[in-house]
Amino acid sequence: MKTGDRHNQFTLRPGGVLRGAVTVPGDKSISHRAAMLAAIARGRSEIRNWLAAGDTEATLGAMRDLGATIERLDTTTLSIVGGALRESASPLNLMNAGTGIRLLAGIMAGQDFPSVLDGSAQLRRRPMKRITEPLELMGADIESRTGGCPLRIRPAALRGLTYEMPVASAQVKSAILLAGLYADSPTTVIQPGPARDHTERMLRSLGVDIKEEDAEGKTITVFPQDRLSPLGLTVPGDISSAAFLLVAALLIRDSELTVSGVNLNPTRTGILDVLEAMGADITIGNRGAEAGEPIGDIRVKASQLHGIEIGGETVVRMIDEFPILMVAALRAEGETVVREAAELRVKETDRIAVMAAELRKLGAEIEEREDGFRILGPQQLTGGQVDGHDDHRIAMSLTVAGLITAEGAVVTDAACAGDSFPGFAETLQGCGALLAAS
Ligand code: S3P
Repeated sequence: MKTGDRHNQFTLRPGGVLRGAVTVPGDKSISHRAAMLAAIARGRSEIRNWLAAGDTEATLGAMRDLGATIERLDTTTLSIVGGALRESASPLNLMNAGTGIRLLAGIMAGQDFPSVLDGSAQLRRRPMKRITEPLELMGADIESRTGGCPLRIRPAALRGLTYEMPVASAQVKSAILLAGLYADSPTTVIQPGPARDHTERMLRSLGVDIKEEDAEGKTITVFPQDRLSPLGLTVPGDISSAAFLLVAALLIRDSELTVSGVNLNPTRTGILDVLEAMGADITIGNRGAEAGEPIGDIRVKASQLHGIEIGGETVVRMIDEFPILMVAALRAEGETVVREAAELRVKETDRIAVMAAELRKLGAEIEEREDGFRILGPQQLTGGQVDGHDDHRIAMSLTVAGLITAEGAVVTDAACAGDSFPGFAETLQGCGALLAAS
């Protein structure tokens, strides 16, 4: 744990300039998947640059409760001996981790022992029918009294399924594909949009027969196989964490910042495409590959942005970046309109309503819409006190907003930044931001 992660309040002052080269912690989505797949693979896996953060530690704890032997070689290097899962003595606590509970539910549906999956009050409010319905169509035995967690899963024989997903969600897709490993015949998911494909990439690297049935990768078939080979990988940097630093540097005059070793999987780079289309000066260098994913260094220079319309597939490719995009849109000239993004309302919080309400406290004018928002810029934020609502991406977006206020700002309930970005406060300070954590 870094100093800032113990602090629950960030005080921001304008006037700092962001410069230099930094790295961000390992990708959250890949870290969840690596912990789970290493625990079901037979043998010893080694995972480097693993994200040691609130959400992923919850997943790791669950895998330990399920009998995986986990050794920490250092904070971010894990050795996991898997392949012999057994019933947990207590309910599995996934805390705030939506990815953790939904993907693990897919795996647990295929085990020959029962499990109970639960989490924080916040997680209990999030919709689980989107996974329990397709898993039940596969034959899974899941009890969820409220449509949310706790989920009580009992052993059941799973059959292959062809499922057309009503929402473009990588969590739903992954839960079905992971359950498909334990089914009696192939399982096919048809997704409406290109949701992140880390599960598919990782399963393929473990020797699972999984294929895309069309050129856009929207239809995916997995063939049953419950003997996975162990993993050896280095997790690339998380583009969703990098996004806060990139937007901050774009908005703060004279800034020039490089974030190195970032995952550039095309299902995740919607934010870069959108910022470029808004006029951002972005250069990608040092392209390579890590863990079966494309990576590179992203360099940004402070830029005058202009408004943009966003909808359709781009929304899926940047689903976690809308809170920080709202901050960018406030400084952009002209109108920014986001449509077809109603999924934002069922994240850790209702991210449209919460961001609009908190940014208004800093003086912003935002038109909230059912499936998105409209912002007319540029607007100068004044300052004030805002709250992170126990939602990491809200807390970090508000922190960046605080840096571009005229008078400064205070973000309370900010410790949740550590759910996905341990060291967020120190990283910003190290780049030159005027941030005090207390
Ligand atoms: C994730 C998928 C996304 C994203 C979440 C991580 C994943 O959720 O918002 O932060 O790792 O699969 P949905 O699949 O529900 O859109």
